[in-house]
Amino acid sequence: IDELLQDGVEGKRIFVRADLNVPLDGTTITDDGRIRAVAPTIAKLAGAGAKVIVASHLGRPKGAPDPRFSLAPAAARLGEILGKNVSFATDTVGDSAKATVAATANGEVTLLENLRFNAGETSKDDAERGAFADELAALADLYVGDGFGAVHRKHASVFDLPARLPHAAGDLIATEVAVLKKLTEDVARPYVVVLGGAKVSDKLGVIDNLLEKADRILIGGGMSYTFLKAKGHEVGISLLQEDQVPVCLDYLARAEKRGVEFVLPVDVLVSADFPDLKTKAPANPELVASDAIPADQEGLDIGPKTRELYASKLADAGTVFWNGPMGVFEHPDYAGGTKAVAQGLLDSSAFTVVGGGDSAAAVRILGFDENAFGHISTGGGASLEYLEGKTLPGLAALED
Ligand code: 3PG
Repeated sequence: IDELLQDGVEGKRIFVRADLNVPLDGTTITDDGRIRAVAPTIAKLAGAGAKVIVASHLGRPKGAPDPRFSLAPAAARLGEILGKNVSFATDTVGDSAKATVAATANGEVTLLENLRFNAGETSKDDAERGAFADELAALADLYVGDGFGAVHRKHASVFDLPARLPHAAGDLIATEVAVLKKLTEDVARPYVVVLGGAKVSDKLGVIDNLLEKADRILIGGGMSYTFLKAKGHEVGISLLQEDQVPVCLDYLARAEKRGVEFVLPVDVLVSADFPDLKTKAPANPELVASDAIPADQEGLDIGPKTRELYASKLADAGTVFWNGPMGVFEHPDYAGGTKAVAQGLLDSSAFTVVGGGDSAAAVRILGFDENAFGHISTGGGASLEYLEGKTLPGLAALED
């Protein structure tokens, strides 16, 4: 955006596509990391006298207004962070948006309501997306893409809108790309990747690619049970993506062939019941070896031997990329594994990148100093797809 600023933006309406998709408990934001990450770009543009029109998605509403996914709490929080009033439009391209944008003075900031309240935003139909992008384009003179967390989505505000307006990449996207690019080029070795979380199929693509680059891959969290199953272990009622078992088997074989250390949990905390995340009532889990999960129990965190093992695998790392929690960290009885990995990153002298909404939020929610990590990415799927080497629509649109 510095080139944009050199040209002068005073009085220009700048559409900033941010990713303010923050976790909410009702209307309370439980982690504001994504808002804080994009705030400097907004402040910079407003400071240069632009009329800043911020837009984002939140959650996955079904193309129509849904109060559970309103961005109103984000407007309030953004205002607090910027130290100035942020006007909020109660729709995205309707009367409220038009009036609020028209009333935005130089140096002022307006946030539009959730982009996904419009079916055109996420439509697979080019014409429908294009029509929505036309309406958005009418609200602005320039476009700044800074929603790194959404650049892997071919959505109207991410992909189609920049084609309709002079555009630039924001500072957050520039930083994210610079850091992740480093991981695809020369990395200090050993390069250790820690993957967790629940979505096995989402993460298999990145494993495919990392088998060529990483020295060690440590698996934990919900995705580990599909790998344990692939190794022939019974996993009880743990999260399992049965259809992915053959793919996991193939990865285990390829890792062995390539000399990549592929490490799975050796012990797990199990329970017959998923913990109550609201009351956080004691869950009293049992500790079992990872090849002895009882038929009626599910694995909910890595056990102490695994924590120690993973810490030892992180200790001499040169570079670490971590995506996905090791267990149900939102409950204190199952937060130990995720805490141990976060601590392992801090204890090593490696360059550490934490990617993914959940792991980034976990680091902050568990009380770690986020500045102690090399980089905390605001992108979950986006950072994984970048490391997979895929073309990301929101980046391609800005490079154009
Ligand atoms: C994320 O949380 O990873 C981004 O905000 C993208 O959200 P989505 O997966 O709903 O597109």
